[in-house]
Amino acid sequence: MDNVVSIKSLHKTFNNANRALNGINLSVGRGEMVALIGPSGSGKSTLLRHMAGLTWGDRGGQGSVSVLGSIIQQQGKLAHTVRSTRAQIGYIFQQFNLVNRMSVISNVLMGSLGRISGWRGTLGIFTQDERRQALKALARVGMEKYAYQRAGSLSGGQQQRVAIARALVQKADIILADEPIASLDPESARIVMDILKDINEQDGKTVIVTLHQVEYARKYCHRVVALKEGELFFDGASNGLSDERLARIYGSSVTSLINDKAPVDSCKKPINSNPINSGDAGAMAFAEVG
Ligand SMILES: Nc1ncnc2c1ncn2[C@@H]1O[C@H](COP(=O)(O)OP(=O)(O)O)[C@@H](O)[C@H]1O
Ligand SMILES: [Mg+2]
Repeated sequence: MDNVVSIKSLHKTFNNANRALNGINLSVGRGEMVALIGPSGSGKSTLLRHMAGLTWGDRGGQGSVSVLGSIIQQQGKLAHTVRSTRAQIGYIFQQFNLVNRMSVISNVLMGSLGRISGWRGTLGIFTQDERRQALKALARVGMEKYAYQRAGSLSGGQQQRVAIARALVQKADIILADEPIASLDPESARIVMDILKDINEQDGKTVIVTLHQVEYARKYCHRVVALKEGELFFDGASNGLSDERLARIYGSSVTSLINDKAPVDSCKKPINSNPINSGDAGAMAFAEVG
């Protein structure tokens, strides 16, 4: 199994004071589905953003991130090949990141922009084949009948499925999903996680997903990586994630996380009862904010 993500000695300090990542070493192999968990503020989103080259580590150290065999950043500097590597990374956001006023299919077609010429993309001229692929991707996530509806008119769960279709059209080799189900009701969350799992199992794509809800990590991912205060606290099989270990990761807030059996279909309780760290809002922008 070759590594598709390789992170070495990564440090990230915001505003010269707030250490968000403290010496992270992590490798993820091709075809893995990994859950990234940890309390709010532990550095999950920051780590994911480093993998996509949306932000970069501290200068001076030896920190590096490689994705799909290409260096994406090293010693606090993005590689000049970052754009082409990024084109192979599908990024799923908590808030979907669709253009609301555009149709569903137009949003999905934007996934092919990385591969087509600039002027065609600018003018929104797509080939028959590209449209066919977009519809196929929508069918895969059960959304083809909404293709010509405005994206903004869909429910959150439907929008997230469209965002996944966009990543499919992008033909990304690796999917990074940052709290993809945190804003969804349990039924929509289950559908979205089932789709991510299916893409992982059927297409062999590597999926790294940050999850607020530990039960989803246990149910969907063989491997769990837990962060605590910017450090890797646990990395192993999800069945090795005992309640006692979770208690050490999450401290006193743990009971609410493990007693809330969210993946059970009959559960009608909204998932998002705990506010998600507002640092996630920064994930919308494709630029360094810190
Ligand atoms: N753009 C930013 N500017 C300053 N501090 C930030 C920024 N993004 C994240 N942080 C800080 O980095 C730490 C980790 O945040 P984050 O990666 O969002 O955690 P998580 O996703 O696990 O909730 C937090 O202390 C957060 O306040
Ligand atoms: Mg986050």
